[in-house]
Formats: sequence, C-alpha cells, structure tokens
Amino acid sequence: MTPPFANYIDTPRLILTNDSTPADLPFLFDLLKGMLGLSDAKSQSQSYNTDTVVEFLREKEKKSKEAQPHGPGYAHYIVRLRQEGNDDSPGIAIGSVAVFCRQADMPTELGYGLLGPYHGKGYGTEAVSAVLRHLRQDLGVAEVCALIRPTNVRSRRLAGKLGLEENGSIKMLGQPGLSSGGVAEYCVFLLPHMERLTADTTWY
Ligand SMILES: CC(C)(COP(=O)(O)OP(=O)(O)OC[C@H]1O[C@@H](n2cnc3c(N)ncnc32)[C@H](O)[C@@H]1OP(=O)(O)O)[C@@H](O)C(=O)NCCC(=O)NCCS
Repeated sequence: MTPPFANYIDTPRLILTNDSTPADLPFLFDLLKGMLGLSDAKSQSQSYNTDTVVEFLREKEKKSKEAQPHGPGYAHYIVRLRQEGNDDSPGIAIGSVAVFCRQADMPTELGYGLLGPYHGKGYGTEAVSAVLRHLRQDLGVAEVCALIRPTNVRSRRLAGKLGLEENGSIKMLGQPGLSSGGVAEYCVFLLPHMERLTADTTWY
C-alpha cells in the first residue's frame, strides 16, 4: 500500500493543499472552464455549473481508486500563492494539480492548470514539480505520465522541465456532458525509464 498523500506541500512561492472545500468551487469552476476552453455563454447554455465540477472530481476520484486499488489513489491539490506579508499562510488560489489514474492499464497521471493571469510566470513548473517530487521521493511511485494535446506548447515544455519525455500517443474519448464527446489525439509523456503504454484509447 502506498503511503497517503501529504495534505500540504510548499515551494518558494506557493502553498499546495489537498483539501478543496465548497468555498473553492467557484474558483475550480473558472479553472475547469478555462481548461476546457468554454466561454461563459457556452457553459450557461449547456448548464455547466459548480455541480458539474463536483461531479467531475468525484468521478475522477472513484475511477482512480477502482483503477489502482493499491496505488497512490487520488489527490487534488489547490495551488495558492503565499499570502503577502505572511509567508506561511496560503493566499489566493491560482490553479490546481491533480494526481489520478484513468484506467488499470495506465500509470498514475498528473493533470494541471492555472488561471490565465498566472500563466508565464513559472508557477506551473514550480507546482507540478513539487507534486512529482512528492510522488516519487515520499510515496515511492515509480511510474508517472502526463497526456498533452500536441498543440499545447506550454504544457509540453513544462513536461520537459519535469524530466518527462514524449513516448507515443493515445486517443481520448470525450466525456459526454462535459467535453465535446468527440475523439482527440494526445501525446503521452513518460519518465525516461518507462515503457511505452499498451493502452491506445482512454477517456477524458
Ligand atoms: C500549462 C500551464 C500549467 C503552464 O504553466 P506556466 O506557469 O505558464 O508554465 P512554466 O512554469 O513552464 O512557466 C512558463 C514561463 O514562465 C517564465 N517565467 C517567468 N517568471 C518566472 C520565474 N520567476 N520563475 C520561473 N519561470 C518564470 C519561464 O521562463 C517559462 O518560460 P519557458 O517555458 O520559455 O521556460 C499553463 O499554461 C496552463 O494552465 N495552461 C492551461 C491548462 C493546461 O493546458 N493544462 C495542461 C493540460 S495537459
């Protein structure tokens, strides 16, 4: 059995906590909308709301536990800036880093995103590398992947800074009711010692 996730991870500029509360839901909704590229009008017309976020996260957690009953399971870190003038207190939420597993024939995966105004300041690398370090060094997780759209240049570059290497691709089927429901190709990024994935299809 893997040891439990830390509830608190800190870096020079950020504090990550694995404990989203109902007060975080509006922020998480904005973040998810940004990551799915949904306009306000589209999310209204399709009735996306904070309940969609709760359902989405609950489903990810449930599937992770089913896919890896003895693995690290699921964590969802909210990434916050350190509060100004009080270095040890978490301040404004700017993004999240999730650790999950999509299906039994895939390794533990990192998913991440920041609100638009916080892109391009190095926060992504700082947050995701701290979670990856925790996974590998503290929890002993040897195999980790990230799935990234070929056009997502910033995320591909971030994966490179984490030491992940592109190794194959996978088809992702959209989740009905959340993403478009179509099929999209994702590049698979793995740690250098890992073998190419056998899975060729997965779910959003
Ligand atoms: C992908 C994503 C998390 C990247 O976050 P980010 O913080 O912009 O990425 P990085 O940490 O790589 O930082 C980007 C740039 O900030 C620059 N930067 C500015 N100030 C910096 C500082 N103080 N320290 C370090 N880097 C700094 C870096 O030079 C870096 O540029 P480079 O890639 O040319 O080296 C972000 O773009 C995002 O949330 N995108 C939308 C969601 C998404 O695509 N998620 C991934 C799905 S797979």
